[in-house]
Parts: sequence; C-alpha cells; structure tokens
Amino acid sequence: MRARIGAGSLELRRGDITREGVDAIVTAANSALAGGGGVDGAVHRAAGPELLAECRKIGGCPTGDAVATPPGRLPVRAVVHAVGPVYGACGGREDELLARAHRRALEVAGEAGCRSIAFPAISCGVYGFPVERAARIALETIRDHLLGGSPPHEVRYVLFGARELEVFRGALRELVERDPRVVLGG
Ligand code: APR
Repeated sequence: MRARIGAGSLELRRGDITREGVDAIVTAANSALAGGGGVDGAVHRAAGPELLAECRKIGGCPTGDAVATPPGRLPVRAVVHAVGPVYGACGGREDELLARAHRRALEVAGEAGCRSIAFPAISCGVYGFPVERAARIALETIRDHLLGGSPPHEVRYVLFGARELEVFRGALRELVERDPRVVLGG
C-alpha cells in the first residue's frame, strides 16, 4: 500500500527490514545502543560487529532521539538507531516520545544525505506500545515530515507480521480519509 504526500511517498509493506534497498535503515534501539533482540538483533546480525563498534563510539542516545552510524556490512548508506519509549514507563509522555523518535530518525537520515529510509514498528515489540496507537503517531509524523519537503522523500514502513501490516494499513486508510494531502496510490 502506497500514498503520495507532498512531493514524497510513503509505502507500507511486510518484510524483513535488513533486506530493504534504501539509503537508511532504522533500527529500534535501546538508549545504551547496546544491541538487543527483535529488529535490533536482526540489524546487528546483518551488519556484523562493526555496527556495535560504531555504537560504542557514540555511547548512547536518549529516549525519543535517534543517531546515525555507518552501516557495517549492510548495503545501505546509514543505520539510524532510534530509541522509542517503553510503553507505560515514561510518565504519560509516550506518544510525544514516539513521535519524536520518528522525527529525529528522519532528520538524522536527511543530514546523512539519505533520500530513502525504511522504518520498523518502533516500540511495538518488547517495549509494548499498542500497535494501533503507534501506527497513528508514526504515520502522522511521517506525513508532517514529507509535507515539509526535506529529504528523505521516500519512506517505507516495514512490518514484520501480518497483523501489524493490517493495523498500519487501517491507520493509513483513516489518515487518507481525514487528510486530503495524503493520497492513496502513486
Ligand atoms: N524487520 C522488521 N521488523 C522487525 C524485524 C525485522 N527483521 N524483527 C522484528 N521486527 C519488528 C517486531 O515485530 C516489532 O513489531 O520490530 C518491531 C519492534 O520490536 P522490537 O525489536 O522489540 O523493538 P522495541 O519494542 O522498540 O524494543 C526495543 O528491544 O531488542 C531490543 O535493543 C532493543 O532494547 C531495545 C528494545
């Protein structure tokens, strides 16, 4: 499923983010940038130990922020390590922090010269964010970025599971209905 937003595009697809042919891959990191399971484990496995070495040079990243590193062995320009909130552990600021993690990931990818980017469902795994709510926040934040006209202009949201993809599709259909600037197809 694909939508045109301003001069950019947003695509939802099911898959393994480590296999996406884009300039920047986002991983759902922890604030120590220490690697982990889930999508972060998959990205670190595919990138090799060079990626953890790059993370150690940076040292950490606060919740709601993102940093870009060289990609190790992955055939992309940059890996963006975005730290989403643990649901229920951020004093009611979870929505704002999830939006900020997406916004910062887009900003640091743009600063690294990336024109295309692929996101996983940040915070929707072990961090426990309800997928319906996360989908609305993620898609609205990406819409706002694309309307602003800065790179990256091509955004993919890559869902690992069929249910997550369905939820994101539903959220995109709702966004299309209430916002004429978001147009299906293209
Ligand atoms: N490609 C795309 N998505 C994936 C992949 C993959 N290869 N593997 C897992 N996912 C999906 C999960 O299905 C989930 O929807 O990524 C989403 C995010 O789940 P987590 O990886 O658990 O991320 P998060 O909830 O943000 O928790 C982050 O987990 O592994 C640790 O280091 C990480 O401590 C951090 C925490």
